[in-house]
Amino acid sequence: MRTPSHRAQAWEHSAREDCDEVGWIRSVAQATRAAEDANCGRSGCRIRKVLRFVSFLWAQNLTIEARGVTRFRIECWVSKSHTHTWRAYKGKPHHHRPRPNPIMTTGRLFEPIRVGDLTLPNRIALAPLTRLRNTAAHVPTELTRTFYGRTAKGAEGGLLITEATAIAAKAGGLANVPGIWNQEQIDAWKEIVHVVHSQGASIFMQIWAMGRAASPEVLKAEDPSYEYIAPSPYPYNGNTPRELTIPEIKEYVQLFATAARNAVEGAGFDGVEIHGANGYLVNEFLVDRSNFRTDEYGGSIENRARFGLEVIKAVSDAVGQKKTAIRISPFFPSYDLEMTDPKPTYSYFVEQIRDQFPDLAYIHSVEPRLNGLVDTFLEANDSVGSGNDFVRQIWAPRPFVIAGGYGPETAKLDAQKYENDIIAIGRHYLSNPDLPRRIREGLPLNNFDRAAFYVPGLAKGYIDYPFVDEEEKKLPAN
Ligand SMILES: Cc1cc2nc3c(=O)[nH]c(=O)nc-3n(C[C@H](O)[C@H](O)[C@H](O)COP(=O)(O)O)c2cc1C
Repeated sequence: MRTPSHRAQAWEHSAREDCDEVGWIRSVAQATRAAEDANCGRSGCRIRKVLRFVSFLWAQNLTIEARGVTRFRIECWVSKSHTHTWRAYKGKPHHHRPRPNPIMTTGRLFEPIRVGDLTLPNRIALAPLTRLRNTAAHVPTELTRTFYGRTAKGAEGGLLITEATAIAAKAGGLANVPGIWNQEQIDAWKEIVHVVHSQGASIFMQIWAMGRAASPEVLKAEDPSYEYIAPSPYPYNGNTPRELTIPEIKEYVQLFATAARNAVEGAGFDGVEIHGANGYLVNEFLVDRSNFRTDEYGGSIENRARFGLEVIKAVSDAVGQKKTAIRISPFFPSYDLEMTDPKPTYSYFVEQIRDQFPDLAYIHSVEPRLNGLVDTFLEANDSVGSGNDFVRQIWAPRPFVIAGGYGPETAKLDAQKYENDIIAIGRHYLSNPDLPRRIREGLPLNNFDRAAFYVPGLAKGYIDYPFVDEEEKKLPAN
């Protein structure tokens, strides 16, 4: 067996106030000693993973240097609460690398927060992400299960919110989205929930009716009796939906309740998030431009809010307020739904939710974004998250999920700034199943592949984004 590079630096062990650091390592024995110093003795201690990796390099009978890794550094932090984190990378020596700031790495983003009956150990959530990997009959597949399983594995006990899931066949209108109206779907979701829970994470299902954003062709192809409907005949994409009748509105309210029951009682979800955002049915009722009804469901702010509030009432009656949440998007810029001034409508809506359903698990809102099709991200500055201040203030001090353009730095900033925020992350989370760890340890992110966002049946760009550990396994071959 060859010996490690003579250029490898001596092991340093410097104790800081709240963490120990294992510096350059030269041998398994040295790493073992360091780990023994730092190890709290708990099973599952991550330092053992470091040791396994070091042993692997030595077992290859190759020096680190010979494998093209000029400097190999392993750092371990052991916090006061005995949570171990570690990272290893090849490349420049320590002083060329920014050291993660211990305050930000253990900031409020990684402090527990209560949501309904759950205590989440961190404030990072998987944002709802439609990915079209379900069957033509709207049943989640092995691919879907693998995606949620991998994400749960990296979530460190955090919250996952599923992709938008249709409450009924006729409420859909997009191929390969999942549903939650029949037993086959409930059974498939149940397996997913089981996998997620077995990884210690929590999961809410986003329940959804598409309304005017549905494709009339898809609806007709699935069943000629499925009609293209909306609050008002406000054209979209060259088609004009039929206005819902009042009995149909009431039926939709009940369909949301049944879907919620199927999700929580049937499949075991921790709760449901009503999709009240992004131009779908609940949103269409709220927005003045798409709701010009003259009955009690249209016109005034009170009337436009009625459908959404009835849905929340029916769903929370079905599964309990603490298992009910809603997503809103006051600044939604697409589908000709942008409101000139969303504040009066959304202030009223959120005040009513606060007054009528004070125990709701959370309200989830989306930050203003210029264009949903362009990959823009929030700047890390003091204004982070502030587009939704008016909503947050009404809902405080309850849990508030915020989404829209967050990255590692802005997520940390937002959590420091807002005591009750949970940051929902979409694009970065879909390409980084272990995003919480990467944020905490300041590790680089995998890039997301936009071309793979909505491709039915495609594993690539869905379940093959590597965990940090997987990247490290590949390291010696570089
Ligand atoms: C591929 C993709 C699918 C999405 N699907 C949904 C969805 O099913 N439901 C929803 O409310 N929002 C959906 N969104 C919006 C995200 O939840 C999120 O609000 C948006 O991507 C901004 O967050 P990000 O900047 O962290 O990606 C989707 C976004 C992407 C990129």
